[in-house]
Amino acid sequence: MVLITTAAGIASLWVGQVGMRLYYEELTQEMNQNIAMYVTQEHELLETKLGTKATITQLSHQAMIINPIAEVYLLNPDGTINSHALPPETIQRKTVELAPIQSFLSGEASFPLRGNDPRHLDQDKIFSVSEIKQGEKLQGYLYVILGGQLYDKAQNNIESSHIRQQSAMAIGVIVIASLLIGVILFRRLTTPLSALAEKMHLFSTPETEHSRRSPTIDEITQLDFAFSQMTEKIEQQLYQLRESDRLRRELISNVSHDLRTPLATIQGYLETLRLKNQSLSNEQRADYLATAEKSCRRLSRLISDLFELSKLESGSKQPDFEQFSIAELIHDTAQEFSLELEQKDLTLNIKTPTADTTVFADIGLIQRVLENLLRNAVAHTPMHGKIELNFTETSEAVQVTVADNGSGIDHDDIPFIFERFYQSADTPQKHPQSSGLGLAIVKRILDLHGCRIEVKSSAQHGTEFCFDLPVNLCQTSEKLAG
Ligand SMILES: Nc1ncnc2c1ncn2[C@@H]1O[C@H](COP(=O)(O)OP(=O)(O)O)[C@@H](O)[C@H]1O
Ligand SMILES: [Mg+2]
Repeated sequence: MVLITTAAGIASLWVGQVGMRLYYEELTQEMNQNIAMYVTQEHELLETKLGTKATITQLSHQAMIINPIAEVYLLNPDGTINSHALPPETIQRKTVELAPIQSFLSGEASFPLRGNDPRHLDQDKIFSVSEIKQGEKLQGYLYVILGGQLYDKAQNNIESSHIRQQSAMAIGVIVIASLLIGVILFRRLTTPLSALAEKMHLFSTPETEHSRRSPTIDEITQLDFAFSQMTEKIEQQLYQLRESDRLRRELISNVSHDLRTPLATIQGYLETLRLKNQSLSNEQRADYLATAEKSCRRLSRLISDLFELSKLESGSKQPDFEQFSIAELIHDTAQEFSLELEQKDLTLNIKTPTADTTVFADIGLIQRVLENLLRNAVAHTPMHGKIELNFTETSEAVQVTVADNGSGIDHDDIPFIFERFYQSADTPQKHPQSSGLGLAIVKRILDLHGCRIEVKSSAQHGTEFCFDLPVNLCQTSEKLAG
């Protein structure tokens, strides 16, 4: 703004000066345009007298009486200077261009119209001119320069005129005043604008990033930046909303399907028992009841899994961190599976290199992780198979591994196994107890601990799950922050 107003000030000063000069010239020429004609009309310029020193001196005097800035020249018809009354050393030109003279005489030229000044080679001046005729014959021109020596001198004297100084000062004051007004107006405009930008910025960025904004960018750019951040965020949230809505609908349909199957089984068997009670053998009755009981158990597991997952996902269940021995937890969990292991004649190798290694996590939740992984391993490993459960300790974390040499996971299934209700195509038939929620729970629990789980598997060769656990409070916070 300072630049613009200063430039505008200088420009108006310049336009004012040039305009003043042009206006003065136009006015002078307009008022004196007939000066040459008056002079020629006063005197019969006879051919014989033309060019004599006395005549021209007299004409000059005549012209200067009318206007003291006039300088008189007698020109021949071709433009060469015939005579004048000025000191000869001051004259630098021998001829004067005829084009401006003819333009003047035609009466159509607009003023100021300049012609050559014989006293300067490179300067043109306003003038008045008149033809000198004898009968019909053109004898020459009376050429009067307006603004001769006298004018030049006067102009040099007023170069530092007080009018000029005052107008420069006035323009200076106008520039400063418009600057001040401009600054005030701009402030009034930009203050609410930057307040708005600030508000939008605070709204659209997480608290940790508030300080990141660069203070050097202007308000409009800040606003633009905050606006695009906000739209981006809104779009992201809309997407998340849609996604969670889709997941919710999917969950409801999955849940109702999964609940209906065991319920239908229970209902079917109970009905049969009631209707054919008399005709059933004791064994059949016991068999039906056992099946109904199995379905009940499946139903109850499904419900508790769902309940647990929804608690984990809603954030209402937060890990209860404590320091505990990982080796002990591994042994305790393995103990729970002794019956299943025995039934399938599976070998479980537990390797706990150090007994006193501790981790900092929620013991109940980590036990759930181990249970789910071990249950999967048991379910997907055929008779006489092998399962390995161990941990290794690095300086930063404890890495727990659950590996088996069972059926493995199809390469295409691997990206999806941690999703809710995801099961490989043959799982529901082979393992009717399974719900497809086990690994989703595992993943969610480890997420709450800030830990990642990795899976390596090849079909028919076996599967290996491994995850890191933090060893102390400091690492836990680090992982959670990361
Ligand atoms: N140890 C494993 N060996 C082979 N496949 C596995 C193993 N663990 C998980 N899977 C595959 O991942 C799917 C999802 O597992 P999970 O979420 O525990 O559900 P569920 O065990 O109830 O089917 C299983 O259906 C199975 O196909
Ligand atoms: Mg499972």
